[in-house]
Amino acid sequence: MKINRKIIVRLSVVVAGVAVMSSCSADKDSAGLEYMPDMYRSAAIEPYVDYGEIREVTHDDLKVRLSAMVPPSGTIPFYGTDSMTVALNLPYHRLANTSFKLSHGMYDAELTDVNEYEAAAADGNMIKLTEENVEGIFAKGKELYNVNCAHCHGDKGDGNGPMVESGAYVGAAVLTSLEISDGQMFYSIYYGKGQMGAHSSILNKEEIWTVIHYINKLKDGSYGPGSEMMTEEVEETSEENQPTE
Ligand code: HEC
Repeated sequence: MKINRKIIVRLSVVVAGVAVMSSCSADKDSAGLEYMPDMYRSAAIEPYVDYGEIREVTHDDLKVRLSAMVPPSGTIPFYGTDSMTVALNLPYHRLANTSFKLSHGMYDAELTDVNEYEAAAADGNMIKLTEENVEGIFAKGKELYNVNCAHCHGDKGDGNGPMVESGAYVGAAVLTSLEISDGQMFYSIYYGKGQMGAHSSILNKEEIWTVIHYINKLKDGSYGPGSEMMTEEVEETSEENQPTE
């Protein structure tokens, strides 16, 4: 019995010693021997790669599907808690019109018979221009506009983008002579209008309001802080943000 216990104690010391020694490595950046790597290193799954793979077996019937999909409709992004960021991330408060089901394929959207486009005339830009942010907003707006809009509406907003000049497309609005309010521009960009598709899945609210600032700048070179039409909602929130003394 005595010997047995000694052997057990010695054996455990040896096993523990081997375990400790073998997990060390001369390379100080190496984790050493990893006993159960699966526990802390998950398999790398990359977006847009069609694996169709479950437990290392490829299932052809599961292939040909996107591995990175858009989030379910109604998902609200969360980036921060300041009132402006939250307001910009909340869903657009105006519904698409029932007619958009046919014209713009909005089958899963909540639709209304009320003329929200007319009502949108009262909505002002949620992003207030200040002396500090104005240059950045125009630069960002220009970038977004050139990527998403200029091929139809033209670099200068004259409605003569390459899509129109090539004859592939007709009727892109001349943005510089539009007589509609910022809120209506927002509504049309968000849900689409006539031949123009909806941009709600491409641009978020912040980006659309930024592009609208840029369009106003294209219309009127003197457009800047103080000349924009604002929403009351944002004016209120920015008052709340003032430090109280
Ligand atoms: C595929 C071409 C195309 C693209 C891309 C496009 N538009 Fe349009 N847009 C049109 C057409 C066509 C109209 C005219 C719609 C109508 O009045 O029937 C229009 C109309 C508009 C209007 C006027 C809406 C109204 O209520 O009268 C605005 C503002 C506008 N577009 C802004 C944009 C912005 C900003 C972008 C980029 C984010 C953009 N468009 C991208 C084709 C396009």
